[in-house]
Amino acid sequence: MSPLPTVLLGSMVNGRPNFMNLAFISLVCWDPPLISMGLNQRSASREAILKNREFSVNYPSADMVKVTDYCGLVSARDTDKSGLFETFYGSLRQAPMITACPLSFECKVVEVHDFKSHTCIISEIVGSHLNKDCLTDGKADPKKINPLLMTMPDNHYWTLGDVVDTAWHCGLELKKKK
Ligand SMILES: Cc1cc2nc3c(=O)[nH]c(=O)nc-3n(C[C@H](O)[C@H](O)[C@H](O)COP(=O)(O)O)c2cc1C
Repeated sequence: MSPLPTVLLGSMVNGRPNFMNLAFISLVCWDPPLISMGLNQRSASREAILKNREFSVNYPSADMVKVTDYCGLVSARDTDKSGLFETFYGSLRQAPMITACPLSFECKVVEVHDFKSHTCIISEIVGSHLNKDCLTDGKADPKKINPLLMTMPDNHYWTLGDVVDTAWHCGLELKKKK
């Protein structure tokens, strides 16, 4: 299942912003806009998100790799991560977002499914915030967002490579021949 995007999941733990590294995240549906995430049973974030029913997803740029990794190495259960980032809020009071991240989503929990090691949480994106510097011709530009990806089992962080072709388009040539 590699590569995986690597994001910082924002939640409120005991009234303080907390951020954890999360790679098990995917788009599920665009109407309504739903995402799914896998959260391990021990994380403080899981407990906070199930209690508050809201949280944020923040896309760190590649230059934030060290602090992103750190957020996956320590838990709010014994380490205060609230001072790591300057934060801002949108419409949800329990969804702290990171100013330095080029892209952030505010999300509300829709469904929860418990499995052995992880809980699958399906949520709706109710707000999105993109840094204007990451726009090209009015559209989000992945190269400017410069997201982090991760591969397993080598556990390496990566940046995006080159564009190969255009989806829902480059196959049309073959479709016409048939
Ligand atoms: C690269 C990386 C990816 C991770 N992905 C996930 C993930 O998808 N789900 C998860 O539950 N934990 C994941 N973790 C582990 C959590 O980030 C870690 O347990 C963290 O300490 C939880 O913080 P919290 O207790 O403050 O919520 C990942 C860690 C790293 C380093």
